[in-house]
Amino acid sequence: MDAMLAIEGLGKTFSVHQLGKRIKACEGIDLAVAAGEFIGITGRSGSGKSTILKLIYRSYLPQKGRAWYRSERFGPIDLFQTSERQILYLRRREIGYVSQFLNLVPRTTARDSIEQAALEVGMGSERAREEAERMLRHFELDEELWDSYASTFSGGEKLRLNVARAMVKHPRLLLLDEPTASLDERSKGKVRELIGKLKAEGTTMLGIFHDLRFMEGLCDREYGMGLGRFVSDALPVAGAPP
Ligand SMILES: Nc1ncnc2c1ncn2[C@@H]1O[C@H](COP(=O)(O)OP(=O)(O)OP(=O)(O)O)[C@@H](O)[C@H]1O
Ligand SMILES: [Mg+2]
Repeated sequence: MDAMLAIEGLGKTFSVHQLGKRIKACEGIDLAVAAGEFIGITGRSGSGKSTILKLIYRSYLPQKGRAWYRSERFGPIDLFQTSERQILYLRRREIGYVSQFLNLVPRTTARDSIEQAALEVGMGSERAREEAERMLRHFELDEELWDSYASTFSGGEKLRLNVARAMVKHPRLLLLDEPTASLDERSKGKVRELIGKLKAEGTTMLGIFHDLRFMEGLCDREYGMGLGRFVSDALPVAGAPP
């Protein structure tokens, strides 16, 4: 397998028991991401984009499909078949995920939450501290906030912290669910800049974006989604190098 990640025949249906309803979130999804590639997923609200990323991160299990991932530690594995222990290891060391929603570590300061993430990948404490500060500075979080609980942060501050926590780890595979949504242009630019840096280091990325024009020149290919399926697979993105 050459791809860093290869999804085959992915299908997920949710059963909403209180409504006695079944919702087909995605079906027949095939997707391959080469090592070092940055792939964008676009599509209307509710079309199943986040579901795909959550399945890859194994927040959900699908009814159908495989997700071959080339792990540094375990070799090629199907993310849907691996043990809970392996998944926890991969989330700590290899696969990063930035949620569309704000999930922060409770009762932890901004600085500590980034430092913790850096320590998880085995950085020494000194280096973790430096890297955390570098991230806080990069995302222009006001220095007064560094040692405050993130629960008091504004939406945009929380989002920037989320992105910083994932990126400080330099993961092998990074899943981004609208990492620039609701940010102002300047902060969006800061996210774009780091995506560019990670790409230059060889990080493989799969990201959902409302508008990929902002990622022009960085994003290699685009998958468009409509109603649980890809409608325009693997279109080259305008402006991306061939
Ligand atoms: N945990 C869940 N339980 C039940 N239904 C769900 C669940 N998660 C997602 N769905 C449904 O699956 C469909 C796809 O949802 P998903 O969050 O993947 O869409 P999306 O493309 O990310 O949308 P948006 O752009 O608004 O974030 C929706 O109809 C949603 O209601
Ligand atoms: Mg979503």
